[in-house]
Amino acid sequence: MGNEERGQWSSKIGFILAGAGAAVGLGNIWRFPYITGENGGAAFVIIYLLFVVFLGVPCMIAELALGRRTKLNAVGAFKQIRNKPLWIFAGFFGIITSLGILSFYGVIAGWTFGYIFKMLLGEGFGYQAFVTNPIFEIGLYAIFLIFTAAIVYGGVEKGIEKWAKILMPMLFVLMLGLIIYANTLEGSYKGIEFYLSPDFSKLTPKAILSAVGQAFFSLSLGMGMMITYGSYLSKKENILTSSLSIALLDTVIAIMAGFIIFPALFAMGENPAAGPSLVFVVLPKLFLNMPAGSFIGALFFVLLSIAALTSTISMLEVPVSYFVDEKKFSRKKIVWAVTLFTFIIGIPSALSQGAVDYFTYFGLLPSELSAPDFLSHMSFAFGDFAIVIGSLLLSIFVGWVWGAKNASAEVAEGSQFFSRIKGLWQFSIKFITPIVIIIILLSVFKII
Ligand code: PHE
Repeated sequence: MGNEERGQWSSKIGFILAGAGAAVGLGNIWRFPYITGENGGAAFVIIYLLFVVFLGVPCMIAELALGRRTKLNAVGAFKQIRNKPLWIFAGFFGIITSLGILSFYGVIAGWTFGYIFKMLLGEGFGYQAFVTNPIFEIGLYAIFLIFTAAIVYGGVEKGIEKWAKILMPMLFVLMLGLIIYANTLEGSYKGIEFYLSPDFSKLTPKAILSAVGQAFFSLSLGMGMMITYGSYLSKKENILTSSLSIALLDTVIAIMAGFIIFPALFAMGENPAAGPSLVFVVLPKLFLNMPAGSFIGALFFVLLSIAALTSTISMLEVPVSYFVDEKKFSRKKIVWAVTLFTFIIGIPSALSQGAVDYFTYFGLLPSELSAPDFLSHMSFAFGDFAIVIGSLLLSIFVGWVWGAKNASAEVAEGSQFFSRIKGLWQFSIKFITPIVIIIILLSVFKII
Protein backbone atom coordinates (compact mmCIF):
# COMPACT_ATOMS: atom_id res chain seq x y z
CA MET A 1 0.00 0.00 0.00
CA GLY A 2 1.15 3.50 -0.66
CA ASN A 3 1.41 6.36 1.74
CA GLU A 4 -1.63 8.36 0.72
CA GLU A 5 -4.81 7.83 2.61
CA ARG A 6 -5.91 5.07 0.32
CA GLY A 7 -2.84 3.57 -1.24
CA GLN A 8 -2.14 0.98 -3.87
CA TRP A 9 0.11 -2.02 -4.07
CA SER A 10 3.50 -0.99 -5.29
CA SER A 11 3.63 -3.52 -8.13
CA LYS A 12 1.96 -6.54 -9.59
CA ILE A 13 4.32 -8.90 -7.85
CA GLY A 14 3.90 -6.86 -4.66
CA PHE A 15 0.19 -7.63 -4.71
CA ILE A 16 0.57 -11.29 -5.54
CA LEU A 17 3.05 -11.66 -2.70
CA ALA A 18 0.84 -9.83 -0.26
CA GLY A 19 -2.15 -11.88 -1.37
CA ALA A 20 -0.20 -15.11 -1.22
CA GLY A 21 1.25 -14.03 2.12
CA ALA A 22 -2.27 -13.60 3.44
CA ALA A 23 -3.40 -16.90 1.99
CA VAL A 24 -0.42 -19.04 2.97
CA GLY A 25 -0.20 -19.49 6.69
CA LEU A 26 -1.19 -21.78 9.49
CA GLY A 27 -4.21 -22.75 7.41
CA ASN A 28 -1.90 -24.64 5.07
CA ILE A 29 0.60 -26.11 7.47
CA TRP A 30 -1.31 -26.51 10.72
CA ARG A 31 -5.01 -26.66 9.81
CA PHE A 32 -4.98 -28.52 6.48
CA PRO A 33 -3.12 -31.60 7.80
CA TYR A 34 -5.15 -31.96 10.98
CA ILE A 35 -8.50 -31.45 9.26
CA THR A 36 -7.47 -33.92 6.56
CA GLY A 37 -6.42 -36.33 9.31
CA GLU A 38 -9.73 -35.95 11.13
CA ASN A 39 -11.73 -36.47 7.99
CA GLY A 40 -10.08 -39.61 6.77
CA GLY A 41 -7.39 -38.52 4.30
CA ALA A 42 -7.37 -38.80 0.52
CA ALA A 43 -11.11 -38.54 -0.23
CA PHE A 44 -11.22 -35.32 1.76
CA VAL A 45 -8.23 -33.96 -0.18
CA ILE A 46 -9.93 -34.61 -3.52
CA ILE A 47 -13.09 -32.80 -2.46
CA TYR A 48 -11.00 -29.96 -1.07
CA LEU A 49 -9.18 -29.53 -4.39
CA LEU A 50 -12.47 -29.50 -6.31
CA PHE A 51 -13.78 -26.77 -4.02
CA VAL A 52 -10.64 -24.69 -4.47
CA VAL A 53 -11.01 -24.80 -8.25
CA PHE A 54 -14.76 -24.50 -8.70
CA LEU A 55 -15.75 -22.33 -5.73
CA GLY A 56 -12.58 -20.77 -4.30
CA VAL A 57 -11.04 -19.25 -7.41
CA PRO A 58 -14.35 -17.77 -8.67
CA CYS A 59 -15.04 -16.28 -5.23
CA MET A 60 -11.57 -14.81 -5.04
CA ILE A 61 -12.08 -13.15 -8.42
CA ALA A 62 -15.42 -11.80 -7.17
CA GLU A 63 -13.99 -10.38 -3.94
CA LEU A 64 -11.04 -8.71 -5.66
CA ALA A 65 -13.32 -7.23 -8.32
CA LEU A 66 -15.71 -5.86 -5.70
CA GLY A 67 -12.84 -4.32 -3.76
CA ARG A 68 -11.16 -2.80 -6.77
CA ARG A 69 -14.39 -1.44 -8.18
CA THR A 70 -15.43 0.34 -4.97
CA LYS A 71 -11.99 1.06 -3.51
CA LEU A 72 -13.54 0.50 -0.12
CA ASN A 73 -13.42 -1.74 2.94
CA ALA A 74 -15.70 -4.78 3.38
CA VAL A 75 -18.74 -2.86 4.65
CA GLY A 76 -18.28 0.16 2.40
CA ALA A 77 -17.95 -2.01 -0.70
CA PHE A 78 -21.32 -3.72 -0.21
CA LYS A 79 -22.94 -0.45 0.81
CA GLN A 80 -21.73 1.51 -2.18
CA ILE A 81 -23.29 -0.94 -4.57
CA ARG A 82 -26.50 -1.64 -2.68
CA ASN A 83 -27.28 0.40 0.40
CA LYS A 84 -29.66 -2.08 2.05
CA PRO A 85 -29.54 -3.49 5.59
CA LEU A 86 -28.97 -7.08 4.42
CA TRP A 87 -25.86 -6.14 2.45
CA ILE A 88 -24.48 -3.85 5.10
CA PHE A 89 -24.94 -6.77 7.45
CA ALA A 90 -23.00 -8.97 5.00
CA GLY A 91 -20.09 -6.57 5.25
CA PHE A 92 -20.20 -6.50 9.04
CA PHE A 93 -20.45 -10.24 9.12
CA GLY A 94 -17.08 -10.34 7.36
CA ILE A 95 -15.52 -8.01 9.90
CA ILE A 96 -16.81 -10.07 12.81
CA THR A 97 -15.61 -13.24 11.14
CA SER A 98 -12.14 -11.84 10.65
CA LEU A 99 -11.93 -10.89 14.32
CA GLY A 100 -13.25 -14.29 15.37
CA ILE A 101 -10.63 -16.01 13.23
CA LEU A 102 -7.83 -13.76 14.41
CA SER A 103 -8.71 -14.55 18.04
CA PHE A 104 -7.99 -18.26 17.76
CA TYR A 105 -5.47 -18.06 14.94
CA GLY A 106 -3.38 -15.71 17.08
CA VAL A 107 -3.23 -18.36 19.79
CA ILE A 108 -1.81 -20.95 17.41
CA ALA A 109 0.52 -18.35 15.92
CA GLY A 110 1.76 -17.77 19.48
CA TRP A 111 2.53 -21.50 19.71
CA THR A 112 4.62 -21.39 16.53
CA PHE A 113 6.53 -18.50 17.99
CA GLY A 114 7.04 -20.33 21.29
CA TYR A 115 8.20 -23.44 19.44
CA ILE A 116 11.16 -21.54 18.02
CA PHE A 117 12.54 -21.41 21.55
CA LYS A 118 11.45 -24.91 22.45
CA MET A 119 13.38 -26.20 19.44
CA LEU A 120 16.46 -24.21 20.35
CA LEU A 121 16.30 -25.66 23.84
CA GLY A 122 15.93 -29.14 22.36
CA GLU A 123 12.54 -29.66 24.02
CA GLY A 124 10.53 -31.31 21.29
CA PHE A 125 8.27 -33.39 23.44
CA GLY A 126 6.62 -31.15 25.97
CA TYR A 127 3.47 -30.26 24.03
CA GLN A 128 1.08 -31.00 26.88
CA ALA A 129 3.02 -29.04 29.49
CA PHE A 130 3.35 -26.18 27.02
CA VAL A 131 -0.30 -25.78 26.05
CA THR A 132 -1.64 -26.19 29.57
CA ASN A 133 0.54 -23.38 30.93
CA PRO A 134 -1.67 -20.27 31.07
CA ILE A 135 1.26 -17.87 31.24
CA PHE A 136 2.82 -19.22 28.05
CA GLU A 137 -0.51 -19.40 26.26
CA ILE A 138 -1.65 -15.88 27.02
CA GLY A 139 1.82 -14.37 26.88
CA LEU A 140 2.73 -15.78 23.48
CA TYR A 141 -0.69 -14.91 22.10
CA ALA A 142 -0.26 -11.33 23.31
CA ILE A 143 3.23 -11.07 21.83
CA PHE A 144 2.01 -12.27 18.47
CA LEU A 145 -0.86 -9.79 18.39
CA ILE A 146 1.53 -6.99 19.31
CA PHE A 147 3.79 -7.89 16.36
CA THR A 148 0.76 -7.92 14.07
CA ALA A 149 -0.54 -4.59 15.34
CA ALA A 150 2.89 -2.97 15.10
CA ILE A 151 3.10 -3.81 11.41
CA VAL A 152 -0.46 -2.82 10.54
CA TYR A 153 0.20 0.37 12.50
CA GLY A 154 3.24 1.27 10.45
CA GLY A 155 1.87 0.31 7.03
CA VAL A 156 2.19 -2.98 5.30
CA GLU A 157 4.21 -2.16 2.24
CA LYS A 158 7.77 -1.70 3.39
CA GLY A 159 8.65 -4.08 6.15
CA ILE A 160 6.58 -7.11 5.59
CA GLU A 161 6.43 -7.21 1.80
CA LYS A 162 10.20 -7.17 1.62
CA TRP A 163 10.67 -9.87 4.23
CA ALA A 164 7.97 -12.03 2.72
CA LYS A 165 9.82 -11.99 -0.58
CA ILE A 166 12.83 -13.65 1.01
CA LEU A 167 11.27 -15.77 3.70
CA MET A 168 8.41 -17.39 1.81
CA PRO A 169 10.75 -18.98 -0.77
CA MET A 170 12.92 -20.16 2.11
CA LEU A 171 9.93 -21.85 3.71
CA PHE A 172 9.20 -23.54 0.41
CA VAL A 173 12.73 -24.92 0.05
CA LEU A 174 12.86 -26.10 3.64
CA MET A 175 9.56 -27.90 3.14
CA LEU A 176 10.92 -29.66 0.06
CA GLY A 177 13.82 -30.92 2.16
CA LEU A 178 11.46 -32.10 4.88
CA ILE A 179 9.33 -34.00 2.38
CA ILE A 180 12.38 -35.95 1.27
CA TYR A 181 13.46 -36.63 4.82
CA ALA A 182 10.02 -37.68 6.09
CA ASN A 183 9.51 -40.07 3.20
CA THR A 184 12.72 -41.95 3.88
CA LEU A 185 11.59 -42.93 7.40
CA GLU A 186 10.62 -46.52 8.00
CA GLY A 187 6.88 -47.06 7.76
CA SER A 188 6.28 -43.72 6.08
CA TYR A 189 4.58 -45.33 3.07
CA LYS A 190 1.50 -45.96 5.21
CA GLY A 191 1.15 -42.22 5.51
CA ILE A 192 1.32 -41.81 1.75
CA GLU A 193 -1.37 -44.45 1.42
CA PHE A 194 -3.60 -42.60 3.87
CA TYR A 195 -2.97 -39.37 1.99
CA LEU A 196 -3.39 -40.69 -1.53
CA SER A 197 -5.81 -43.61 -1.58
CA PRO A 198 -9.34 -42.38 -1.14
CA ASP A 199 -12.03 -44.04 0.95
CA PHE A 200 -15.20 -42.19 0.00
CA SER A 201 -17.19 -43.77 2.80
CA LYS A 202 -15.47 -41.33 5.15
CA LEU A 203 -17.10 -38.35 3.49
CA THR A 204 -19.86 -37.35 5.90
CA PRO A 205 -21.79 -34.09 5.37
CA LYS A 206 -19.62 -32.56 8.11
CA ALA A 207 -16.45 -33.64 6.26
CA ILE A 208 -17.75 -31.95 3.13
CA LEU A 209 -18.54 -28.77 5.06
CA SER A 210 -15.02 -28.86 6.50
CA ALA A 211 -13.58 -29.27 3.01
CA VAL A 212 -15.39 -26.26 1.65
CA GLY A 213 -14.67 -24.31 4.85
CA GLN A 214 -11.00 -25.19 4.64
CA ALA A 215 -10.86 -24.20 0.96
CA PHE A 216 -12.27 -20.75 1.76
CA PHE A 217 -10.21 -20.46 4.93
CA SER A 218 -6.97 -21.27 3.21
CA LEU A 219 -7.67 -18.83 0.39
CA SER A 220 -8.71 -16.17 2.93
CA LEU A 221 -12.20 -15.83 1.48
CA GLY A 222 -15.63 -15.15 2.91
CA MET A 223 -14.63 -12.51 5.43
CA GLY A 224 -13.89 -9.42 3.41
CA MET A 225 -10.15 -9.79 3.31
CA MET A 226 -9.78 -10.09 -0.45
CA ILE A 227 -12.29 -7.24 -0.84
CA THR A 228 -10.02 -5.11 1.34
CA TYR A 229 -6.84 -6.15 -0.50
CA GLY A 230 -8.62 -5.70 -3.84
CA SER A 231 -9.39 -2.12 -2.86
CA TYR A 232 -5.67 -1.36 -2.99
CA LEU A 233 -5.38 -2.82 -6.48
CA SER A 234 -4.97 -0.69 -9.62
CA LYS A 235 -7.01 -1.11 -12.79
CA LYS A 236 -3.92 -2.30 -14.65
CA GLU A 237 -3.61 -5.36 -12.49
CA ASN A 238 -4.89 -8.68 -13.76
CA ILE A 239 -7.42 -10.07 -11.31
CA LEU A 240 -7.71 -13.40 -13.11
CA THR A 241 -4.03 -14.29 -13.16
CA SER A 242 -3.49 -12.89 -9.67
CA SER A 243 -6.27 -15.10 -8.28
CA LEU A 244 -4.96 -18.15 -10.09
CA SER A 245 -1.39 -17.56 -8.90
CA ILE A 246 -2.44 -17.04 -5.29
CA ALA A 247 -4.69 -20.11 -5.31
CA LEU A 248 -2.02 -22.26 -6.92
CA LEU A 249 0.70 -21.23 -4.48
CA ASP A 250 -1.62 -21.70 -1.54
CA THR A 251 -2.74 -25.14 -2.63
CA VAL A 252 0.75 -26.37 -3.45
CA ILE A 253 1.97 -25.41 0.03
CA ALA A 254 -0.96 -27.17 1.73
CA ILE A 255 -0.45 -30.34 -0.30
CA MET A 256 3.27 -30.23 0.47
CA ALA A 257 2.54 -29.95 4.19
CA GLY A 258 0.56 -33.19 3.91
CA PHE A 259 3.53 -34.90 2.28
CA ILE A 260 5.59 -34.06 5.36
CA ILE A 261 3.09 -34.70 8.12
CA PHE A 262 1.41 -37.95 7.04
CA PRO A 263 4.53 -40.00 6.28
CA ALA A 264 6.15 -38.69 9.45
CA LEU A 265 3.21 -39.39 11.66
CA PHE A 266 2.66 -42.94 10.44
CA ALA A 267 6.38 -43.64 10.77
CA MET A 268 6.20 -42.47 14.38
CA GLY A 269 2.98 -44.28 15.20
CA GLU A 270 0.95 -41.16 15.95
CA ASN A 271 -2.78 -40.79 15.37
CA PRO A 272 -3.77 -38.79 12.25
CA ALA A 273 -6.98 -37.66 13.95
CA ALA A 274 -5.20 -36.00 16.86
CA GLY A 275 -6.74 -32.60 16.08
CA PRO A 276 -5.11 -29.18 16.51
CA SER A 277 -2.07 -30.62 18.30
CA LEU A 278 -1.07 -32.73 15.29
CA VAL A 279 1.62 -30.58 13.73
CA PHE A 280 3.02 -29.49 17.09
CA VAL A 281 3.45 -33.06 18.23
CA VAL A 282 4.65 -34.68 15.01
CA LEU A 283 7.04 -32.09 13.60
CA PRO A 284 9.18 -31.50 16.69
CA LYS A 285 9.69 -35.25 16.98
CA LEU A 286 10.72 -35.34 13.35
CA PHE A 287 13.19 -32.51 13.86
CA LEU A 288 14.76 -33.90 16.97
CA ASN A 289 15.36 -37.16 15.16
CA MET A 290 17.50 -35.58 12.49
CA PRO A 291 21.02 -34.18 12.49
CA ALA A 292 21.14 -30.47 13.43
CA GLY A 293 17.45 -30.93 14.23
CA SER A 294 17.11 -28.24 16.82
CA PHE A 295 18.51 -25.65 14.42
CA ILE A 296 16.38 -26.85 11.49
CA GLY A 297 13.34 -27.02 13.76
CA ALA A 298 13.88 -23.51 15.05
CA LEU A 299 14.33 -22.23 11.50
CA PHE A 300 11.13 -23.96 10.42
CA PHE A 301 9.13 -22.34 13.21
CA VAL A 302 10.65 -18.94 12.44
CA LEU A 303 9.48 -19.25 8.85
CA LEU A 304 6.07 -20.55 9.91
CA SER A 305 5.70 -17.63 12.34
CA ILE A 306 6.37 -15.22 9.48
CA ALA A 307 3.84 -17.01 7.29
CA ALA A 308 1.32 -16.69 10.12
CA LEU A 309 2.20 -13.04 10.60
CA THR A 310 1.45 -12.13 6.98
CA SER A 311 -1.95 -13.75 7.52
CA THR A 312 -2.75 -12.11 10.87
CA ILE A 313 -1.82 -8.75 9.36
CA SER A 314 -4.39 -9.24 6.63
CA MET A 315 -7.07 -10.22 9.15
CA LEU A 316 -6.45 -7.15 11.26
CA GLU A 317 -6.49 -4.97 8.15
CA VAL A 318 -10.18 -5.86 7.54
CA PRO A 319 -11.65 -4.11 10.62
CA VAL A 320 -8.98 -1.41 10.60
CA SER A 321 -9.76 -0.34 7.02
CA TYR A 322 -13.45 -0.28 7.93
CA PHE A 323 -12.89 2.13 10.82
CA VAL A 324 -10.53 4.28 8.78
CA ASP A 325 -12.81 4.54 5.70
CA GLU A 326 -16.22 4.65 7.25
CA LYS A 327 -15.70 6.16 10.66
CA LYS A 328 -12.71 8.34 9.83
CA PHE A 329 -10.72 7.05 12.79
CA SER A 330 -6.99 7.48 12.66
CA ARG A 331 -5.30 4.23 11.64
CA LYS A 332 -2.86 4.49 14.49
CA LYS A 333 -5.47 4.71 17.23
CA ILE A 334 -7.86 2.15 15.90
CA VAL A 335 -5.19 -0.51 15.37
CA TRP A 336 -4.53 -0.78 19.08
CA ALA A 337 -8.20 -0.60 20.05
CA VAL A 338 -9.10 -3.47 17.70
CA THR A 339 -6.09 -5.47 18.83
CA LEU A 340 -7.04 -5.13 22.48
CA PHE A 341 -10.60 -6.22 21.72
CA THR A 342 -9.36 -9.24 19.78
CA PHE A 343 -6.96 -10.13 22.55
CA ILE A 344 -9.80 -10.28 25.04
CA ILE A 345 -12.05 -12.49 22.91
CA GLY A 346 -9.11 -14.83 22.29
CA ILE A 347 -8.37 -15.50 25.95
CA PRO A 348 -10.86 -18.41 26.26
CA SER A 349 -9.21 -20.06 23.22
CA ALA A 350 -5.78 -19.57 24.73
CA LEU A 351 -6.92 -21.29 27.93
CA SER A 352 -8.84 -24.08 26.24
CA GLN A 353 -6.07 -26.62 25.72
CA GLY A 354 -6.00 -27.81 29.31
CA ALA A 355 -5.22 -24.64 31.26
CA VAL A 356 -8.83 -24.08 32.36
CA ASP A 357 -11.27 -26.99 32.46
CA TYR A 358 -14.32 -24.89 31.67
CA PHE A 359 -12.89 -23.84 28.29
CA THR A 360 -11.20 -27.18 27.66
CA TYR A 361 -14.49 -29.08 27.97
CA PHE A 362 -16.68 -26.27 26.74
CA GLY A 363 -18.87 -28.59 24.67
CA LEU A 364 -21.50 -26.16 23.44
CA LEU A 365 -21.58 -27.60 19.91
CA PRO A 366 -22.53 -31.22 19.24
CA SER A 367 -19.54 -33.51 19.08
CA GLU A 368 -20.14 -34.37 15.39
CA LEU A 369 -19.40 -30.73 14.57
CA SER A 370 -16.54 -29.80 16.84
CA ALA A 371 -14.20 -31.10 19.54
CA PRO A 372 -15.28 -29.87 22.98
CA ASP A 373 -12.55 -27.26 23.56
CA PHE A 374 -13.25 -23.59 23.00
CA LEU A 375 -10.55 -23.16 20.35
CA SER A 376 -12.01 -25.94 18.20
CA HIS A 377 -15.44 -24.36 18.61
CA MET A 378 -14.10 -21.03 17.34
CA SER A 379 -12.29 -22.77 14.51
CA PHE A 380 -15.52 -24.44 13.44
CA ALA A 381 -17.85 -21.49 14.07
CA PHE A 382 -15.70 -18.88 12.34
CA GLY A 383 -13.19 -20.84 10.28
CA ASP A 384 -15.75 -23.16 8.69
CA PHE A 385 -19.30 -22.02 9.25
CA ALA A 386 -19.15 -18.20 9.18
CA ILE A 387 -16.71 -18.17 6.29
CA VAL A 388 -19.02 -20.38 4.24
CA ILE A 389 -22.02 -18.17 5.02
CA GLY A 390 -19.89 -15.15 4.12
CA SER A 391 -19.01 -16.69 0.77
CA LEU A 392 -22.66 -17.55 0.15
CA LEU A 393 -23.66 -13.92 0.75
CA LEU A 394 -20.79 -12.71 -1.42
CA SER A 395 -21.64 -14.96 -4.34
CA ILE A 396 -25.31 -13.92 -4.25
CA PHE A 397 -24.33 -10.29 -3.98
CA VAL A 398 -21.83 -10.30 -6.82
CA GLY A 399 -23.79 -12.71 -9.02
CA TRP A 400 -27.25 -11.22 -8.61
CA VAL A 401 -27.23 -7.84 -6.88
CA TRP A 402 -24.20 -6.15 -8.37
CA GLY A 403 -24.71 -8.49 -11.32
CA ALA A 404 -22.31 -11.00 -12.80
CA LYS A 405 -22.16 -8.93 -16.01
CA ASN A 406 -21.14 -5.74 -14.23
CA ALA A 407 -18.62 -7.64 -12.18
CA SER A 408 -17.21 -9.26 -15.33
CA ALA A 409 -16.60 -5.86 -16.82
CA GLU A 410 -14.51 -4.99 -13.77
CA VAL A 411 -12.49 -8.21 -13.98
CA ALA A 412 -11.95 -7.74 -17.72
CA GLU A 413 -10.09 -4.49 -17.07
CA GLY A 414 -6.51 -5.61 -16.96
CA SER A 415 -7.29 -9.09 -18.25
CA GLN A 416 -8.16 -9.53 -21.89
CA PHE A 417 -8.22 -13.26 -21.61
CA PHE A 418 -11.04 -13.10 -19.05
CA SER A 419 -13.63 -12.29 -21.72
CA ARG A 420 -13.11 -15.78 -23.15
CA ILE A 421 -14.01 -17.53 -19.93
CA LYS A 422 -16.38 -15.07 -18.38
CA GLY A 423 -19.42 -17.24 -19.11
CA LEU A 424 -17.91 -19.96 -16.98
CA TRP A 425 -17.12 -17.59 -14.16
CA GLN A 426 -20.60 -16.06 -14.25
CA PHE A 427 -22.17 -19.49 -14.10
CA SER A 428 -20.03 -20.43 -11.14
CA ILE A 429 -20.66 -17.28 -9.11
CA LYS A 430 -24.38 -17.14 -9.86
CA PHE A 431 -25.26 -20.81 -9.61
CA ILE A 432 -22.57 -23.29 -8.64
CA THR A 433 -21.22 -21.52 -5.57
CA PRO A 434 -24.52 -20.60 -3.89
CA ILE A 435 -26.24 -23.87 -4.73
CA VAL A 436 -23.38 -26.07 -3.55
CA ILE A 437 -23.07 -24.11 -0.29
CA ILE A 438 -26.80 -24.27 0.38
CA ILE A 439 -26.91 -28.03 -0.23
CA ILE A 440 -23.96 -28.61 2.10
CA LEU A 441 -25.48 -26.50 4.87
CA LEU A 442 -28.85 -28.19 4.57
CA SER A 443 -27.29 -31.61 4.81
CA VAL A 444 -25.06 -30.73 7.77
CA PHE A 445 -28.12 -29.55 9.66
CA LYS A 446 -29.97 -32.69 8.54
CA ILE A 447 -32.64 -30.76 6.68
CA ILE A 448 -32.10 -32.86 3.56
N1 PHE B 1 -5.57 -18.13 4.71
C1 PHE B 1 -4.88 -18.00 5.96
C2 PHE B 1 -4.17 -19.30 6.23
O1 PHE B 1 -4.38 -20.26 5.53
C3 PHE B 1 -5.81 -17.68 7.08
C4 PHE B 1 -6.67 -16.50 6.82
C5 PHE B 1 -8.03 -16.63 6.82
C6 PHE B 1 -6.10 -15.27 6.55
C7 PHE B 1 -8.84 -15.57 6.59
C8 PHE B 1 -6.89 -14.19 6.30
C9 PHE B 1 -8.25 -14.33 6.31
O2 PHE B 1 -3.41 -19.42 7.15
